[in-house]
Amino acid sequence: MARTPDISALEGLRGRSILRLVDLSADEIRAILSLARMVKADYGAFRGALSQRALVMLFEKPSLRTRLSFELGFQKLGGCVSFLDHRNERIGARESTADYGRNLERVADVIVARVFAHDTLVSLRKSCSAPIVNALSEIAHPCQALADAQTLVEHGIALESCHLAWMGDGNNVCLSLMELTAIMGGRMTVVTPAAHKPCPTLSAEIAAVAAKTGATIVLTSDPAAIKGAHAVYTDAWISMGQQDSAEKIASLRALSVTPEIMKIAGPQAKFMHCLPAHRGEEVVDPVIDGPQSVVFDQAENRMHAQNALLLALLGAVPASHGVRADAAQLLSQTR
Ligand code: CP
Ligand code: NVA
Repeated sequence: MARTPDISALEGLRGRSILRLVDLSADEIRAILSLARMVKADYGAFRGALSQRALVMLFEKPSLRTRLSFELGFQKLGGCVSFLDHRNERIGARESTADYGRNLERVADVIVARVFAHDTLVSLRKSCSAPIVNALSEIAHPCQALADAQTLVEHGIALESCHLAWMGDGNNVCLSLMELTAIMGGRMTVVTPAAHKPCPTLSAEIAAVAAKTGATIVLTSDPAAIKGAHAVYTDAWISMGQQDSAEKIASLRALSVTPEIMKIAGPQAKFMHCLPAHRGEEVVDPVIDGPQSVVFDQAENRMHAQNALLLALLGAVPASHGVRADAAQLLSQTR
């Protein structure tokens, strides 16, 4: 008989802010992914679940996927959304971040923010009682990692035993995937040039989490270390807000994900990218357009994983809005 997934851990998420993936436990991540699977399987069962709820989105940087997936996802569940474009004026410039937060909490049930400085999110969290969700900062992209986790599971890869390979710059997406690995107990091989390793302070913090769960995270410059990986992941060499650097790009050329690099990993390896892709730089067309690529599954899952997270943060699950019966039925059907 199919085992019913345990989503009881979602109850403890109500009202919390998620600035980094380490804000979540392994049980909470498993519960979010179970709910994401249910939501993806049948939006009708969650119709109106976020009715009368307001999402405010603050974006200091450009976005396609994150903006679309949060806006459309929240609206599909019956909520209303306001998008504040901060590309021409940083949060905290016109009035203090604390005052800004105090205004927001009067109208918003949840805030999703994409910022240059992670500290802006920390300040907002201090001044605002509504949950804050990080939609990308210079050190983290937790919603991307949740969608990636959902994608791996959908492709039959258990997070607890997943060997994920990272190729390229040790950036925000890399750090969130390291956090995912550390929490879930898997293995990650991070291949970067020596000068572009992930932040040492955060790496040490993540290593301490890994030590508790038995996860293995190896930082190396040797692409041979990705042999046997379940997935090979890459991202832009120059992230938003970073200085363009010919020297950095030159040092990353050898880590471009080509068919030869995919061969080192093996035929079982999926190719992953958070997108947008810079074709001809971190990845070449035959790989991103090839049969091992799951990049558009990742992009789609942004919406489902985030909706599951938002339902949990807003205490709208399993279903205080009349979806309990449908949700319970879906739980048993989607195993
Ligand atoms: N992956 C991602 O966050 O894409 P956007 O920058 O387009 O939102
Ligand atoms: N590392 C990239 C991710 C974009 C989704 C950036 O921060 O620009």
